[in-house]
Amino acid sequence: MKQLAHLKIVLTIIILLLTGVGIAQSVGVILQIKDNNKQIRTFSLSQLKMIHPPTVVQVLDPYEQQIQQYRGFAINALFESLYGDNWQQQEEVLLTGMDGYQTAISVNYFLQYKGFLAYEKLDSPQFTVTNNLLQPTLVELIPFYLIWDNVNQPHSSQLSQWPDQVMSIELVTFAEKFPQMTPPEESSNDVKRGFIAFRNFCQNCHSINGDGNNRAIDLNYPINVMEYMDEAKLRIWLNKPTDILPDTTMPAFPYHIKNREQQLNDIIAYLKTMAQYKREPAREVLTSP
Ligand code: HEC
Repeated sequence: MKQLAHLKIVLTIIILLLTGVGIAQSVGVILQIKDNNKQIRTFSLSQLKMIHPPTVVQVLDPYEQQIQQYRGFAINALFESLYGDNWQQQEEVLLTGMDGYQTAISVNYFLQYKGFLAYEKLDSPQFTVTNNLLQPTLVELIPFYLIWDNVNQPHSSQLSQWPDQVMSIELVTFAEKFPQMTPPEESSNDVKRGFIAFRNFCQNCHSINGDGNNRAIDLNYPINVMEYMDEAKLRIWLNKPTDILPDTTMPAFPYHIKNREQQLNDIIAYLKTMAQYKREPAREVLTSP
């Protein structure tokens, strides 16, 4: 991994929304790929289709809670075509939505499960889904929606793993990209695994020392969560937040993942370690009331 740490591949999909044209025709999709030599290659959607033929995939959509069919690219094969095997040596895939919201998913997760970069919903004129989880609301998916074959391979259908409106994909290594939240090099393996699990399941809402998103509080700065919540309570909270706060919007730790118990322990080990590594956030963070 180390000798490849400098290899930085940035893959950006830029959307040109032409005003005054119907939605379906208005989207010109350009795929931008940047490597560590700062070279940029761009691809249109039709070029992408030539590089790798799209397929139809059937998923249990987590928004609609029913089976839907989408057309898109098997994302691992797309990465393979664009980079060769190099992408597998990266640590994380960082997806950025049209609103700037970032989703991080580890490369290992892509290797374990089958993801697809969808750009069309079958039997539907619009590329949207209805979010039936709270009040029904329409969610725009354009330009890309990351989906997972959870029909043939049951696994996490936590919404944070299904980012919509994806316009940019970047393959990154942690220490380079997220110096504030990366545990020290000499940390034990459970802490390192916990960091990856945290990136997969927590940072979509929380930050550590300001790295991550700010839909919910920073779990390390200025106060580490384990400085005011004991471990037993934290465990109950992560396992099923509604057992403690019935109307919380924080999701339970996903049930259908490998080594669920171990991953929870690892996250706790990571949080404990980070208490000793408070670093001043580069931006303002949400704090516990
Ligand atoms: C979808 C967003 C989301 C995700 C993902 C998420 N959380 Fe939360 N979390 C929240 C929200 C919102 C709250 C505030 C609780 C409330 O008021 O409902 C919260 C609260 C917490 C708290 C309590 C903090 C306090 O001061 O009371 C802890 C601890 C916590 N989260 C840890 C985690 C960990 C660890 C993960 C990953 C396993 C995680 N969260 C994933 C949204 C999220």
